[in-house]
Amino acid sequence: MHTIINAIINRSSKRAFLSKPVPKEIQEKILHAAAMSPSGANMQPWITYAISNEEVLKNIGDAIIQKMNSGIENDQFIQYYPLEWKSVYKKRRIETGIGLYSLMGVDRKDIETRTKMWHDNFRWFGAQTVFFVFTDKSMIDNAQGALIDCGAYMQSIMLAALEFGIDSCPQGSTTEFGKVVADVLDAPKNLALLYSVVIGYEDKEAKINTYRPKRAAISENVVFI
Ligand SMILES: Cc1cc2nc3c(=O)[nH]c(=O)nc-3n(C[C@H](O)[C@H](O)[C@H](O)COP(=O)(O)O)c2cc1C
Repeated sequence: MHTIINAIINRSSKRAFLSKPVPKEIQEKILHAAAMSPSGANMQPWITYAISNEEVLKNIGDAIIQKMNSGIENDQFIQYYPLEWKSVYKKRRIETGIGLYSLMGVDRKDIETRTKMWHDNFRWFGAQTVFFVFTDKSMIDNAQGALIDCGAYMQSIMLAALEFGIDSCPQGSTTEFGKVVADVLDAPKNLALLYSVVIGYEDKEAKINTYRPKRAAISENVVFI
């Protein structure tokens, strides 16, 4: 039984899943709960494609990997990561990457294995369901509020999933190829992909799923007055 605080603290991104589908009625319950996330003026700017079709997921993954292999760095609607990293965030990013690769015994110079691990994102870490979250382009043309709302929606999805013994991995890797995803899905032209969330049943034997990157002390990011 999860208390809210335990669910928040114990949730972690999983990167290896069993090949076991998430029943549609559970997906609906998760998405119904997530739809209760707050949003400015109750705009509810999220539009979700909940995809469990093996062929469609494969086609999206193939198209992204093909694009990457052709040397294209991104094909996106929004820029997720900063173009210029300030030291503290750069340090955290590097530490998180190093932590994951060293847990898996992957050398810094082993580009082949590191690339394969990155490509695992586009094989959905073995899971069978992925939620692709879009918003209407008009919401983000000259404003950023919808991004805040859709971030809350993301966390709601991941926490609601835990109620059903389902784990998740949020993905900005698909954000970077959002236009590829939209093309494969033939999504309406007014939609922009923000991110995806892989959901499924964690492979408890997989070492990668034991990774728990630490957080900064709240004294580093909270000002009490
Ligand atoms: C918006 C967003 C995008 C992310 N993109 C990816 C991704 O593409 N691939 C991945 O393996 N993890 C991704 N993550 C997971 C982060 O690496 C992870 O949340 C962070 O390291 C903290 O670890 P934890 O989620 O296990 O607590 C993403 C997380 C967020 C919130």
